[in-house]
Amino acid sequence: MGSKISINGFFRDTSGLPRMEELRKESLANASAKPDPNDFIHDLAKRLHPANMRFQVVSIEESSDSTRVYRLVSKDGHIPVFHCGQYMNLRLKIGNGVLTRPYTISSAPFEARGENPFLEITVHRKKGGFVPDYLFKNLKVGDTLDGSMPFGNFYWEPLRDSKNIVAIAGGSGITPFYSMAKEVAAGKMRGCKLTILYGSAKSDDIVLKNELEQLSSTCWDIKIVHVLSDDPDWPGKRGFIGKEMIKRYSAKDCTYMFCGPFAMYGHILNALSELEIPARRFHHAIISNPSDVSTLPGYPKEKRGKTFQITVIRGMRQDTIHASSLEPVAVALERAAIPIDTHCRNGECGFCRSQLLSGEVYVSPVGDGRRSADQKSDGFHPCSSWPLSDLKIKIPIM
Ligand code: FES
Repeated sequence: MGSKISINGFFRDTSGLPRMEELRKESLANASAKPDPNDFIHDLAKRLHPANMRFQVVSIEESSDSTRVYRLVSKDGHIPVFHCGQYMNLRLKIGNGVLTRPYTISSAPFEARGENPFLEITVHRKKGGFVPDYLFKNLKVGDTLDGSMPFGNFYWEPLRDSKNIVAIAGGSGITPFYSMAKEVAAGKMRGCKLTILYGSAKSDDIVLKNELEQLSSTCWDIKIVHVLSDDPDWPGKRGFIGKEMIKRYSAKDCTYMFCGPFAMYGHILNALSELEIPARRFHHAIISNPSDVSTLPGYPKEKRGKTFQITVIRGMRQDTIHASSLEPVAVALERAAIPIDTHCRNGECGFCRSQLLSGEVYVSPVGDGRRSADQKSDGFHPCSSWPLSDLKIKIPIM
């Protein structure tokens, strides 16, 4: 039997409110400053937002010669809620150091629920990619991985976004849209129509090609358009994704989402601006900086290829390391086996926030997530700052 609520009239029912407020103030004044360890809300918060997670690799599928899909299950038996487009951060112990790398979750949120919940990450191996090489060579079924809970602001939000979604992807930037396509195909994004414009150089470079084809062939709400820039034998669309193509595949009032390399980002931004797409209708994933940062606007060319000394203070300890002007400070720290907590690795999340006590750094225009207070003071993000002189920095202890 449910409990009974009696209505006694407005004045009688509200007359106790001032006393309630007094009681509330009293209990706040007498409350301990320390959280109550027996409060059930702690367990709930830990379950929803665990700082660290442990995963076991349960399968490794070769999607192509250069792409592997790693399926992970949580060793804690629970995977926090996440959105298509969010990423998890892997913490890899390599040699004496710990490297962290963000990987977009390529499985769908519904696959992390139910009886056999799992996450998948898709790793694409390219020449010179240190971490993908490491994972391809070392990670085996049964291995355990440390990671973080899902993070990131790049996702489709039903209260804000249109149900007509045009996703524009380049290279391995397809992974958030693969997750979304799975969610749409499973009927979890009711009423959504997803068109993916996917740019690659050659047909062999297409990531998750068969998997995407299978989804689009079984679900009317998913359309995939491949556009190849460097494959004269490709029977489909050739060239680059531009204004005309975006216009052609746009319905009325679309939400546009982009995930891809830096060079493509500028091109897509121009196309959307020429189409007069309002900024609120465009979301982009974290844009990785180009491998040669000196090509970015405002980089002082005379500093290119120079080596600087960095004095690193953490707690009572002080170390001196060397760094190239072409590597972010966080990479120099990792190379020297000095742990630094990173998540997005592109200036957005603030996890690596440190103090620049002296010296000068270049901050990438696509990775400047510093708050205005930080810009005026000494706060900086080692993940998106390149040394332009000898530096003295103070980093948090991990
Ligand atoms: S890791 Fe996110 S701001 Fe540096």
